[in-house]
Amino acid sequence: AFAKLPDAAGDEIFAVNHAFTIDPHPQKVSLALGVYRTNEGKPWPLPSVRKVEEKLFAENDINRHEYQAIEGDKVFLKLTRDLIFGFNGRTESLAEKQAKRRIASVQTVSGTGANHVGALFLAQHLKPKHVWISNPSWPNHQTIWSLVGVPRKTYPYFNSRTRSFDFCATIDILDSEAQEGDVIVLHACSHNPTGIDPTMEQWIAIADLCEKKGLFPFFDCAYQGFASGCLDEDAWAVRLFFNKQPRMEMCVAQSFSKNFGLYGQRVGAFHLVTNGDSAAVIDLVVQNLCHIIRGEYTMAPRGGSTIVRRILEEDALRKEWQRDLIEMSSRIKAMRRALLNELRILNTPGNWDHIINQSGMFSYTGLTLKQVLALKDRHHVYMVKSGRASISGLTESNVLRVARAIDDVVRT
Ligand code: LMR
Repeated sequence: AFAKLPDAAGDEIFAVNHAFTIDPHPQKVSLALGVYRTNEGKPWPLPSVRKVEEKLFAENDINRHEYQAIEGDKVFLKLTRDLIFGFNGRTESLAEKQAKRRIASVQTVSGTGANHVGALFLAQHLKPKHVWISNPSWPNHQTIWSLVGVPRKTYPYFNSRTRSFDFCATIDILDSEAQEGDVIVLHACSHNPTGIDPTMEQWIAIADLCEKKGLFPFFDCAYQGFASGCLDEDAWAVRLFFNKQPRMEMCVAQSFSKNFGLYGQRVGAFHLVTNGDSAAVIDLVVQNLCHIIRGEYTMAPRGGSTIVRRILEEDALRKEWQRDLIEMSSRIKAMRRALLNELRILNTPGNWDHIINQSGMFSYTGLTLKQVLALKDRHHVYMVKSGRASISGLTESNVLRVARAIDDVVRT
């Protein structure tokens, strides 16, 4: 029955990561997978996370492995909703109460799960003619939307000549070709893979266009706290759309893999925003999301989400977590500067300023496929074929080696 299966494209990011893992070279460097690494090149369980893990272990709660509700942990959902939409958990004005009533939230299997549950829900209930995905984008966006059968189109995000967001081309194509009810996937901050986000003015224009054309904004938020180091600043675009008048329908897929360093724990949330504030509509949305979740995997896991909840609900831990975030984003920024500096000292042909102008975990280096392959073959430096480099793979002790490797492949 399976002899004539079509070729299923393997996932490039994890394939490159595997090739790196099995490479025995002692000085290999991975700039492939978007994960945080310390200056020693090691994974970093966040100190705030470690503290909660110790507490949980000491508490020895007998319920810790029990099922949770299909929609997930309600306290976790409120806290994560407040984190992205900017509600202050304590004081609650009438306007805030009403704003919260617009949002239906469910817990998901991290960002991929949130994107998928949201895509499936919209495919069934919004029935968009197309989904618009930036070119380039996180490759999994294409996979996720192809699995739910919504025809995909791309908007031309990156201008390789100017190495910037191609705002005019994006607006032009959406204005002329997008149809009412189409979904547009937007990266809330730290665009993956380019590291380039729209400016505030550009975001305002995109929001206006969505309103004018009746497009449905689908935010993917995997890096809150990583772009600027400031949680509120990184949520600016989402909040702009959320607070827009007249109210828009929209949604947010939220991942906690990067900002809590909980990659393998699969912690995430999906928030669907309605334009009314009817509790009955929210109930219906949650019911339908739960129908999908129950059929697919019953509920998201509770281990990682308990950690996130405990950090977000306790002041001291939350402050400590914010310091952890700053530590991660600052080290990445320092490594961007160090790489640029080494390339300048080596007089590497070309302009490399974009390395420090881009933000978040990645730099879109501009290296060609041939150069990326040469980096791996000649220097054991791994990145994905688009030339995206995960900057946190750089350390004080390997940055010169990486700069020399780039210099070599650029010159030959
Ligand atoms: C990446 O883009 O490298 C990360 O988001 C990991 C992933 O899931 O692809």
